[in-house]
Amino acid sequence: MPSLAPHIASVPASGIRRIFEMATTLDDVAMLVVGEPDVPVARHIGDAARRAWSEDRTNYTPNGGIAPLREALVAKLARENDVHVDLEQVWVTIGASQGLHQAMGLLLAAGDEVLVPDPGYTTFTMNARMLDAVPVPYTLSSEAGFVPDVAELDGLVGERTRAIIVNSPSNPLGVVYSEDVLQGLLDFAARHDLWVISDEVYEYFTYGPRHISMAALDRDDRVFSVFSLSKTYAMTGVRVGYLVTPKGLADTMRTVQEAAISCVAEPDQFAALAAIVGDHQSVADARDHYRSNGELAMRLLDAKGIRYLEPNGAFYLWVDVSHASRGDVATWCERLLLTSRVAVAPGSAFGRSGEGWIRVTLAATPETLERGIAALPSPV
Ligand SMILES: Cc1ncc(COP(=O)(O)O)c(C=O)c1O
Repeated sequence: MPSLAPHIASVPASGIRRIFEMATTLDDVAMLVVGEPDVPVARHIGDAARRAWSEDRTNYTPNGGIAPLREALVAKLARENDVHVDLEQVWVTIGASQGLHQAMGLLLAAGDEVLVPDPGYTTFTMNARMLDAVPVPYTLSSEAGFVPDVAELDGLVGERTRAIIVNSPSNPLGVVYSEDVLQGLLDFAARHDLWVISDEVYEYFTYGPRHISMAALDRDDRVFSVFSLSKTYAMTGVRVGYLVTPKGLADTMRTVQEAAISCVAEPDQFAALAAIVGDHQSVADARDHYRSNGELAMRLLDAKGIRYLEPNGAFYLWVDVSHASRGDVATWCERLLLTSRVAVAPGSAFGRSGEGWIRVTLAATPETLERGIAALPSPV
């Protein structure tokens, strides 16, 4: 058999998938491991998809997406994000996943470096490796309040550094960055002439602080913004997101979208259109559900004396189990699953700084959360 491209072996496997797959072979597991909304998709979204199918809207569309969807996204970006762009800056993608891959593919040549949050969403690193680029982790530590340390970032920039990935609200931390933090990151990027990829897939789930889009603060066209409908509208399996690019890239984007995917499935685009322009009550309900789950989980953890990071956004709780995990939280999570039938994500799956922590998803029933947290050992 001929060999694969050598760099493919460097793409790390996901430590979350491992627990998830083990969990699916067992019965009666409290599933607190994946980032999957546990609320139903709103009726009008499914109706729009069904209508598109029954009207035979099953064709290629323009590479960037159907015009009414792109128009609706332009209006949403102006209204909700204070991001003012034209239609040709908005590209409908197969989830945020493809938007991220596309943005990174535009910016990174083999051997280039990209700064990625640690702990951070796993595919930032995986995508960099797939492109034969080098992910350089920057630390989000509990000592620094889980925000990036610009002095550390300055020290990480080298000859080959091309971009920084920023994720707020953050997976796995649930941290939402303030305008000052985001502005500091933009100033840092400008100082070193770096691109910024801003992953904002949890934009609708904040509990207190307002979500701020980096592109709203961008003065010199260096921000690519990655959005998704997956989490907001509980439609992870429909696979629609969008990439918002700086000005002047329309011809390039058209070409690379054509090569990568041609376009997103047409019925899915109609579902996305209905989601964006339709009633948002289900989004508000989902936010309340995650918030109330978060409050419950924090009460339970307080009662057990277990340390955690209070989330301001997303739907995860970052919990310190270093008193029990003995320097190997991945193995500890496997043991927890086998002995207690509780599946949580090991923090180390999100980077080296996640050692000793676990990510508990709040997208679950209160009963499942109670069961999961009951199985966590208190510090002695
Ligand atoms: C931070 C972050 N970005 C991107 C994604 C991918 O989302 P999508 O379903 O839109 O591809 C996820 C999914 O978990 C995520 O947590």
